Formats: sequence, C-alpha cells, structure tokens
Amino acid sequence: RTVYVNGAFVPEDEAKVSIFDRGFLFADGVYEVTSVLDGKLVDFAGHMKRLERSLTELDMPSPASTEELLQIHRELVTRNGLGEGLIYLQITRGAPADRDFVFPDPEETAPTLVLFTQTKGIVDSPGAATGITVITIDDLRWGRRDIKTVQLLYPSMGKMMAKAAGAGDAWMVEDGEVTEGTSNNAYIVTGGKIVTRHLGNEILHGITRAAVLRFAREAQMEVDERPFTVEEAKAADEAFVTSASAFVTPVVAIDGVSLGDGTPGPVARRLREIYVDEMK
Ligand code: PDD
Repeated sequence: RTVYVNGAFVPEDEAKVSIFDRGFLFADGVYEVTSVLDGKLVDFAGHMKRLERSLTELDMPSPASTEELLQIHRELVTRNGLGEGLIYLQITRGAPADRDFVFPDPEETAPTLVLFTQTKGIVDSPGAATGITVITIDDLRWGRRDIKTVQLLYPSMGKMMAKAAGAGDAWMVEDGEVTEGTSNNAYIVTGGKIVTRHLGNEILHGITRAAVLRFAREAQMEVDERPFTVEEAKAADEAFVTSASAFVTPVVAIDGVSLGDGTPGPVARRLREIYVDEMK
C-alpha cells in the first residue's frame, strides 16, 4: 500500500513520523475519514469544511490547501486502485524539539500530514442487511466532541465494552440522553418522526448526518433534531446510525431490547438506499 506523509507518497513500511510528534504525545491532532465509492470520493467538500473548522478551533495551522488535499486523495485512490473503502487523513501540530504542554510556535514547527487508504466493503456490509445491536454506556469523553480530534481512547473502550457484551456498538449517554455512537451519529424513529440529537459541542457534526437529514426532508420525512432518552429509544419503532464508514446502518436492539420486530426498519432501509443512490 502506498501512503502519504508530509509531501511524499511512500510504501507504508517506509513512512516515518517523529516520536516527538504532538499527535503521538498529546493526541494534539485532527482527522477525517472520507468514503470512496466506485473510486469516487463521497462528500469530499463536506469533510474538508469540517476539517478546516476543527483546525480553526484548535488554532492549528493547515499544511495544505483543500485543492492540494483533493489531489492527494485522488492520487492515493489511483495508486492503490481503491474501488470501495475509506481514506484516512490526519493532521497533527507536528514535532517540536521537546515535549511541552504549551503549543509550539507555528513558525518553528510544521504540522504533520498523513493519509492512507483502507479497502472496505461499505455498500454490502453485513450490518446493513441484518442491522446491529447496541449497548448504552456513560459518555465520559471531553466536552468538545464537535472537534474531530484523534483522542479516541474512550470510543475504543466503548467498542470493547460492546464487544464484551456481544453487541455491535455502544451508544453514549449523558444526563439520561443519548449523545451519539462511538464512531457514528445516533437516530430513532418514533411517532412517525426521525429524531436525532441537535448539533452542539456534545456530538460530532457528522457529514453523513447532514446529507441523510437533507435527503429525509426532501423525501417528505419529518425530522426532529432534539435529544432523546434511553427509555424513549428502547420504546422506538426503529433506530439507526450514520457515518462515512457505515452510511446508514439499522440498529435492531438497544441493551437487549428489540426494536419493532427486531429487523431493520423501513425508514433506515429507505434512507440507506437513497444515500447510496445519491452518492454513487
Ligand atoms: N467516525 N460521531 C463520531 C463520534 C464519529 O467518530 C463519527 C465518524 C461520526 C459520523 O461522522 P461522519 O458522518 O462525518 O463520518 C459521528 C469516523 C467514521 C471514524 O472515526 O472512523
């Protein structure tokens, strides 16, 4: 596999980053995951807009323009013959001379830019057909979840808790209300409406979320952007999650409680179909 590191396309085992890199020492970095369908980038502009916002919020310089990043994405798709899968992009504040909590002077430290591809079947993933089950866990992440940082230890722990419980993922809960999944946005369908938490610092502003809500409204489905409780979710008609790597994936049980008849619901199936059609 060819990867990209700081201006060069290199074989993955030749890629190098300093041990003093702040991404490594402080999780001082941001990332994006863009999906690729039929060799084409899905919603690239949306991901770049959010990347810019993440960088701005952290006062982190960008190592490349959006146009340059687009060229790098395209080059990696070509070099790796990527038909369907993901492109991972990470920018960190770089490697200053020493470990120091204080941000280094941007004049003295260049940001680190890394990209790699991952082949993955997204359209025909097993979870799409059968739906996934989720457990609920406390949301113990930091308070700026709207910034897409690489500090993913708690989401990783959440996935492990789900795995140990025999579930597919975990939904995180704060003050009794669902924030989001470990790596996706969470939705329920109740009272004939699609309900998903409103945007704020508590969740990541999903690029897939924005597209799916737009498609839902265009299809005359009602959308209610508000918090929902675990109790409301367990009593809902259906549920689903969205992300660049899951598109729309149905959720069929929460904490062992089956939703509806325990199979993917009609709203989730329809939205997935629309999403794949529109993005192809
Ligand atoms: N995760 N919420 C969280 C916490 C996420 O990590 C993600 C994405 C999303 C969905 O955002 P989007 O629709 O823009 O992918 C919501 C990516 C896929 C990941 O970490 O692999």
